[in-house]
Amino acid sequence: MTPTQNTLWWQRGVIYQIYPRSFVDTNGDGIGDLPGVIERLSYLSDTLGVDAIWLSPIYPSPMQDFGYDVANYTDIDPLFGDLATFDRLLVAAHQHGLKVIIDWVPNHTSDQHPWFRESRSSHSSSRRDWYVWRDPKADGAPPNNWLSFFGGPAWTWDAATEQYYLHSFLSCMPDLNWRNPDVQSAMFDIVRFWLDRGVDGLRIDTAHYIMKDRDLRDNPPNPAQGYAMHRAMGDYDSQLHLYDKGDPDVHAIFRDLRRLLDDYSHEQPRMAIGEIHIYDWPTWAGYYGQHSDELHMPYNFGLLNIPWEAQAVRRLVETLEATLAPNDWPNYVLGNHDEPRIASRVGAAQAQVALLLLLTLRGTPTLYYGDELGMENTPIAPDQVQDPWERNVPGLGLGRDGERTPMQWTNEPHAGFCPPDVAPWLPVAPYAATMNVARQLQEPHSMLSLTRQALALRRTSEALGSGGYQTVANTPDDCFVYLRDTAQEQMVIALNFSNEARDIDLSKFGAAMLALSTYLDRSGSVDAASLTLRPNEGCVLRIEAER
Ligand code: GLC
Ligand code: CA
Repeated sequence: MTPTQNTLWWQRGVIYQIYPRSFVDTNGDGIGDLPGVIERLSYLSDTLGVDAIWLSPIYPSPMQDFGYDVANYTDIDPLFGDLATFDRLLVAAHQHGLKVIIDWVPNHTSDQHPWFRESRSSHSSSRRDWYVWRDPKADGAPPNNWLSFFGGPAWTWDAATEQYYLHSFLSCMPDLNWRNPDVQSAMFDIVRFWLDRGVDGLRIDTAHYIMKDRDLRDNPPNPAQGYAMHRAMGDYDSQLHLYDKGDPDVHAIFRDLRRLLDDYSHEQPRMAIGEIHIYDWPTWAGYYGQHSDELHMPYNFGLLNIPWEAQAVRRLVETLEATLAPNDWPNYVLGNHDEPRIASRVGAAQAQVALLLLLTLRGTPTLYYGDELGMENTPIAPDQVQDPWERNVPGLGLGRDGERTPMQWTNEPHAGFCPPDVAPWLPVAPYAATMNVARQLQEPHSMLSLTRQALALRRTSEALGSGGYQTVANTPDDCFVYLRDTAQEQMVIALNFSNEARDIDLSKFGAAMLALSTYLDRSGSVDAASLTLRPNEGCVLRIEAER
């Protein structure tokens, strides 16, 4: 890949995902809020050193899916604040040099949204066709065999109007009908509402779900019985999900959305990053658009979908590098509010290697709140389960509460997330007294210290921020080594995925200076002909220009 010059904020920067319910509670109801985010902006920009925040949904909502069930797209839920609070947050974030990305949820609304109430009221409602209503089959069965991602059929019977409506997720989250142009224009007006307020970007929820097969054909059975996604999901895995999402007509919508965003980008570049769970990379890359004219980035969940092994990671990165068109900008994630935390998946030692990988690959990293501390999934007792997915499909370990527990700030009660006498909405991790921001700031070798240093290095290095990518060959099998470079600067990243020491020969690069080790205990010149990586060590080396 050739190095890219003149990168924009969303290319050069690091996105930090905030799950607002779990970040900081300022008014003592046990639920995080927007004043809490405002309070911690200097932590994010100055202490940590990220460049943008993505806020999971903050709209008025019955909270059946914790805000992804939106009842009003142009207001703020009182739990979090109000529009004035949001405007304050936006101004303050910009003053801190942070861009703000909000979650846009186009596939479905809450069943409490006025549009659905109206749609549901009668066949002749002017909004009937804003959702997907169908007659039953002759025997009364649902119109096709589609399944809800969260368990059970994707159709719910409405006794009053004697039709089924479609919901790809919970039955209280009916799918909008994007084949109706009025839906598109209403949803685009909502985008304009937030862009006019000054938001910098959109994270598009379940982006490829919005267009389904025009004829609503049955999904075929899944012959291989393999996973539909990257983990076992019960009945949902019994089908190939060919027709219930990702219809090619979706691309026209994203071209229109891109034009809208481009129109708003003259003074302030705006962007969209879409949640696209597709692991067939050419199809996935199709969401950048044939002429890089759709999403600025489809989220790349590849690192969540492979075994944690050096060669698997190398193959993924090489596949992506080979798949992307020159104007398509890569991105990587290690976790989010839907995925088990990386430290639980790979262990504390490899979580450091993973963090260094995330912050040194070519492309935009998204860091999930708490991963800068090495937070793990918190065990949730059966009577504390909040996630509707866990409730609907129990026993498969699908519940997402474990990765959504309160951010750990201090060793005070509830880790400083909420006042001491208040119960947080999800339990605080049992080890929070020893793993929190305040403590890790004091510890020179903590995960937070590593994250800060890696972010600082990335910020000051053109090669890491916008340089090219090349695999470095002839290295041990359980190590992944790559070069990031511009014409002026070469950085080599060497990651040891094993828990034994490994020797790497980098003599072809000449002299090297160690810029960062995950152990945070060495720097300065190293013998490039024989660099010893300690167990689970990752290093960034600056190649010295020949004199
Ligand atoms: C996305 C969100 C997830 C939500 C679902 C339905 O996958 O990330 O949290 O439950 O969409 O909106
Ligand atoms: Ca609160």
